[in-house]
Amino acid sequence: MSDHRSWAEPYKIKMVEPIRMTTREHREAANRAAGYNTFLLASDDVYIDLLTDSGTSAMSEYQWAGLMLGDEAYAGSRSFYHLVDAVREVYGYEELVPTHQGRGAEHILSQILISPGDVVPGNMYFTTTKFHQEHAGGTFVDVIIDEAHDPASTHPFKGNVDLAKLQAVIDEHGAGKIPYISVETNVNMAGGQPLSMANLRAVHELCHRHDILVMLDATRALENAWFIQQREEGYAGKSVGEILREICSYTDGATMSSKKDNLVNIGGFLALRDPDLARRARALLVAFEGLHTYGGMSGRDMEALARGMREMVATDDHIRARIGQVHYLGGLINDAGIATVQPIGGHAVFIDAAAVVPHLPQDQFPAQALTAAIYVDSGVRGMERGVVSAGRDPVTGDHHYPKLELVRLTIPRRVYTQAHMDVVAESVAAVYERREQIKGLRFTYEPPELRFFQATFEEIG
Ligand code: F0G
Repeated sequence: MSDHRSWAEPYKIKMVEPIRMTTREHREAANRAAGYNTFLLASDDVYIDLLTDSGTSAMSEYQWAGLMLGDEAYAGSRSFYHLVDAVREVYGYEELVPTHQGRGAEHILSQILISPGDVVPGNMYFTTTKFHQEHAGGTFVDVIIDEAHDPASTHPFKGNVDLAKLQAVIDEHGAGKIPYISVETNVNMAGGQPLSMANLRAVHELCHRHDILVMLDATRALENAWFIQQREEGYAGKSVGEILREICSYTDGATMSSKKDNLVNIGGFLALRDPDLARRARALLVAFEGLHTYGGMSGRDMEALARGMREMVATDDHIRARIGQVHYLGGLINDAGIATVQPIGGHAVFIDAAAVVPHLPQDQFPAQALTAAIYVDSGVRGMERGVVSAGRDPVTGDHHYPKLELVRLTIPRRVYTQAHMDVVAESVAAVYERREQIKGLRFTYEPPELRFFQATFEEIG
């Protein structure tokens, strides 16, 4: 007898939202109308929506009850103070600058710290983060370990910063040109891959020796804490809440998209330790986001956020089931012989499009084409994370050609069941059987910035 015990969702379902299966004909027309870009599909045309885990969580009864108690005062809302307390308790940062979502925090942080000509190292780029760094006149430099760019590498902490690469950036540019390092937890573009506590501690030491701030992208820090608990020596006996606080203790501040870990549909913040820096952030906040006690969120948003934040660390059961579901889907897809980023990450399964459709050169957008093919097969909506997302080099005008050419199937928190995951895996397997028939794409419209959101395409040939 095996003593294996399955995980199960630590909740039962109280309210349901109907979803609708469409015909293949309907989806072919919708796909063409959307220009082969799943961002441009109407959600009514989608059956199982794995576009993103951002803002798509199901809230708890306690969060919904909090909506009724939101204090909508323009200034000094009670709900704001609840949020301040929750951030201090859960993340350990004293100064809270609320924003409408993550990119609002990235904007403010980039504007107060980056001067034109500065260099900002980071463990792989995220689209909006890099945009705001460049918009402030900075240049992003990737300092993630090489294993992160290899989908087959099974390194347990592919999100780690390569300390030698970081040291080389400091040597080349001088610490005076580096206002901060941007450290992302559970690195999204690498496949939802964690960094280790030992690595973060070493980054903190190196940066502080050179007076360089460490700014965390804490968007999926809870998921990172889970992997540290599972994989790093000395953490098996600690709760994810304790590990999360330790992660933050090695940083000077954080930007946060609360639409992920924090279990709300909108919201975010910039959190800091230095009151002077926070004062500068608040001065800009009033121009771009809103008064410093709401920053683009309503009182009810802040109330639901404060509650979601506490709920995510109240027990480890939530995160065990959340990541358990992602790994369940990843296991099914791998069992069908389909290559994905290894190990399966925290928020999504990333199919290795370069391996699935090797007949398409990267400038025919293999991951974009595969994402569209999966949608047409079953109404499952994923997202391209490859050359389209990487954009163009602002100097040469050429495409950036990232080593990772991926289709992301992202799992919303507490929304779908294991049966939905079975349906997704069957669809991916069906598309894989017909993979040679997938055609390359070319642009019919290419926006100048963050092109993946609104670009349209047509099939070649
Ligand atoms: N940082 C990371 C790591 C993210 O994944 C995101 C958003 C942001 C910052 C920006 O936050 O959307 O609240 O403004 N990621 C979403 C995604 C959009 O689908 O991966 P935001």
